[in-house]
Amino acid sequence: MKFAKRMDVFGESIFTTLAKMRYERAQKGLEVIDLSIGAPNIPPHERIVNTLSKETLDRGNYIYAITDLPELQDAVVEWYQRRYGVTLDPRTEVTSMLGSQEGLSHLALTLVDPGDIVLVPNPCYPIFRDGALLAGAKIVDMPLKKENNYVIDLDAIAEDDAKAAKLMIVSYPNNPTCGVAPVEFYEELVKFAKKYDIVVLHDNAYSELLFAGPGHSFLEFEGAKDIGVEFNSLSKTYGMAGARIGFMVGNSEIVSKYKTLKSNMDYGMFIPIQKAAISAIQGDQSIVLDTRNAYRHRRDLLVNGVREIGWDIDLPEGSMFVWAKIPDHYKDSESFTYDLFEKTGVLVVPGNAFGSEGEGFVRMALVQDDDTIKHMIEVMDQSNIFKAK
Ligand SMILES: Cc1ncc(COP(=O)(O)O)c(C=O)c1O
Repeated sequence: MKFAKRMDVFGESIFTTLAKMRYERAQKGLEVIDLSIGAPNIPPHERIVNTLSKETLDRGNYIYAITDLPELQDAVVEWYQRRYGVTLDPRTEVTSMLGSQEGLSHLALTLVDPGDIVLVPNPCYPIFRDGALLAGAKIVDMPLKKENNYVIDLDAIAEDDAKAAKLMIVSYPNNPTCGVAPVEFYEELVKFAKKYDIVVLHDNAYSELLFAGPGHSFLEFEGAKDIGVEFNSLSKTYGMAGARIGFMVGNSEIVSKYKTLKSNMDYGMFIPIQKAAISAIQGDQSIVLDTRNAYRHRRDLLVNGVREIGWDIDLPEGSMFVWAKIPDHYKDSESFTYDLFEKTGVLVVPGNAFGSEGEGFVRMALVQDDDTIKHMIEVMDQSNIFKAK
């Protein structure tokens, strides 16, 4: 059978290899401690679950939703006002996505013709790149360097690339590097995007998982709405990853074009999920604080734990990940990942899976509970893996 060339974008990835490794080890009855995929395991608050179950029992809710419920759009507007001080028009500047992953897969289709340039961070969350590639884009990397705290250096973008670029994808707090951008970066970003007439997609999946203080919205910055949109997700903040819902907010022309595309692709979101989202973002938000504290505690256990046994890594300021430089006695991220797994059953992602600039690092997702993290540190300690050979 002859499949389309665009499917080459999804060639066998390291994630498939990691899944095989996990399976084979588990088959042998050996322990696996999986920190590879960022699948959140902090369950949603019971008020969200109660709303979802009640609405699911209502047989009237099984129609095609087609559009977002106006009360959902209103709830998002109220949330953005309360949380970020950003004013949005509920009917033209807000739309739901079937998870931000869906928007990340499709938005480029509305903006990019084959061969157009899209500026993408390297390393990055893989769909940033893949979504643009599916639309036929030519990718130009924006390297995220440790010495710049993983903040994009806008001055390093070649003038010709900036002039030709249609879209740039930016995301802080960042996955996988855990970098956090200062306010000055966002101010410069808006100026840069206006100067070169580039649409900005700011993915804000981890704004609530910033440990030092509240995270920002890109739309807080003057002029941002003229040139961009922000994606926000209920997956991590409210533990709703499986009940797929995220939002695109911002520039009305971009939102409108995306809605046109979607109206031809899907028939809207299951109404009970829309109602559960309303109950998540309205009402008592201490549930978000509880989630943030749980991730912070895991982060502290993991980072302090591995430091004590000889692996000196950075303490991330935000996100649900730890981005760690590999020990000096390993030649690259993959050899460290494989050796760590063989000796301990701890599964991490080699940094090069996120792009060439990720080489020399591994990503660990904070998706195991406190006891498992403590146990993992003991297992790692016994393996002597951090003792130089
Ligand atoms: C940066 C980033 N954006 C988007 C997503 C996907 O989120 P959603 O569950 O809303 O599709 C993830 C998931 O890990 C992510 O890390």
